[in-house]
Amino acid sequence: VKRIPLVAGNWKMNFDHLEATYFVQKLAWLLRDAHFDFKRCEVALFPSFTSLRSVQVLVEADRLRVTYGAQSVSVTTQGAFTGDVSADMIAHLGCSYVIVGHSERRKYHPEDDANIVDQVRAVLAAGMQPILCVGESFEERRQGIELDFAVGQVRDVTRDLSDEETSKLIVAYEPVWAIGTGMVATPQSAQEASCAIREDLRETFGADVADAVRILYGGSVTSKNASELISQPDVDGFLIGGAALDVDELAKIARLV
Ligand code: G3H
Repeated sequence: VKRIPLVAGNWKMNFDHLEATYFVQKLAWLLRDAHFDFKRCEVALFPSFTSLRSVQVLVEADRLRVTYGAQSVSVTTQGAFTGDVSADMIAHLGCSYVIVGHSERRKYHPEDDANIVDQVRAVLAAGMQPILCVGESFEERRQGIELDFAVGQVRDVTRDLSDEETSKLIVAYEPVWAIGTGMVATPQSAQEASCAIREDLRETFGADVADAVRILYGGSVTSKNASELISQPDVDGFLIGGAALDVDELAKIARLV
């Protein structure tokens, strides 16, 4: 089964719109210089809301094949929700994706499963694809229940989704202990978790859905560990934090994938 790998740079709360502009211009230059083949690997950026419009303008002006998305979304469509940004507003900026349920959102904002399901629905309804983040903390790994935990998180969100909706999902397996720590999962354990998630999707939704869903690995990915991780059959790309703040490093990872 051929799934186009996705290298996604999650900038988290970094870069204002000027820094974002500089980054995109340099990334475009680096990838062009390397004759990067966007049909072989997709590169996506996840700036702050305040930089999305700048990224859109550059991508359109330059006919750059880089895709982009938001890091979170409101579950409501419009109205008196001060500080929230709707899925339609994000979609109208040319976004393809929204990251949903990142562990930092689950921790610092009360985003529970119900809220995450609603975000997934809002993203799908606006014609974009959700990147659903799952993954165990150190405690679950210590107990040896990491696979059940990650599979369970996907199940909790997909439970009420149709086959068609689920086939549009991208899953990011991000063990919490690996995020921003320099402690990367072994290629074997990234594969084990991705495979367990895919097999569970296969059981519930069938082979077509399971084969369509891209499963990314996230957690201390760098150009040093990317090749080995991507060689795993069920790892379809990366959700990258720290290393995605360095444009040379991000371009290097994209070339390795
Ligand atoms: O969204 C990205 C992940 O949280 C990974 O972050 O690459 O800095 O470990 P990291």
